[in-house]
Amino acid sequence: MQKGEFLYEGKAKRIYATDEPGILWMEFKDDATAGNGAKRGTIGDKGRINAEITRRVYEHLEASGVRTHLVRTESPTVLLVKKLEMFHLEVVVRNIAAGSLVKRIGLEEGREMAQPIVELYLKDDALGDPILNDEHVIALGLASPEELAGLKAAARRVNELLRPYFEERGILLVDFKLEFGKENGAIVLGDEVTPDTCRFWDAKTREKLDKDRFRQDLGGVEEAYQEVLRRVDAPHA
Ligand code: TMP
Repeated sequence: MQKGEFLYEGKAKRIYATDEPGILWMEFKDDATAGNGAKRGTIGDKGRINAEITRRVYEHLEASGVRTHLVRTESPTVLLVKKLEMFHLEVVVRNIAAGSLVKRIGLEEGREMAQPIVELYLKDDALGDPILNDEHVIALGLASPEELAGLKAAARRVNELLRPYFEERGILLVDFKLEFGKENGAIVLGDEVTPDTCRFWDAKTREKLDKDRFRQDLGGVEEAYQEVLRRVDAPHA
């Protein structure tokens, strides 16, 4: 597979075309940002770690019937993925209170939700990804009512599959962000599932094993990412 034209650079990935129509080259970077770009840095080996975690998680989801954009690993930091028609939405699922939910509603960090919460955000860096409700999504034409129901159902299904997947690896899946697109009208999971886009806590100690270590200057950032990959590679360890 040949890397083609440069298409797009996000905060953590670079996207290129390939010589195969409909297949994109997704290169994971070591760059890290927080606070919508206010804080910048790099996390050693993050590109490779996040590419490998995403591959493993998406293979697990595919094996359980969730459609994802993953085609295959091309190199340690590159995944080949299907080109999707992306929704301009971020879909967040929360199992335990943390992050912006704690700030916005004043909940105690670590409080278990009575049921998972699915939230929708507009994918727009200039606006700081504002939160939306279902009516905004439909009135703004970001998804049809059927698509919105499909997105929420898919996000809940991913949560039902990934909570036990990480629990078997001694990790609490606190919350996470997904991005979906469409392929021939079907909803397909795109983007990535990594310590950049999820909150992972050690199940025993509740130690943070995700980008909050970078956001909050907790130290041990690279080690936390490596630890998540180690546990994804070796369940029950
Ligand atoms: P939040 O608590 O900051 O709203 O984040 C919820 C989850 O979504 C957390 O696991 C981090 C992830 N997330 C992203 O991956 N990208 C984003 O732009 C935001 C705001 C959150």
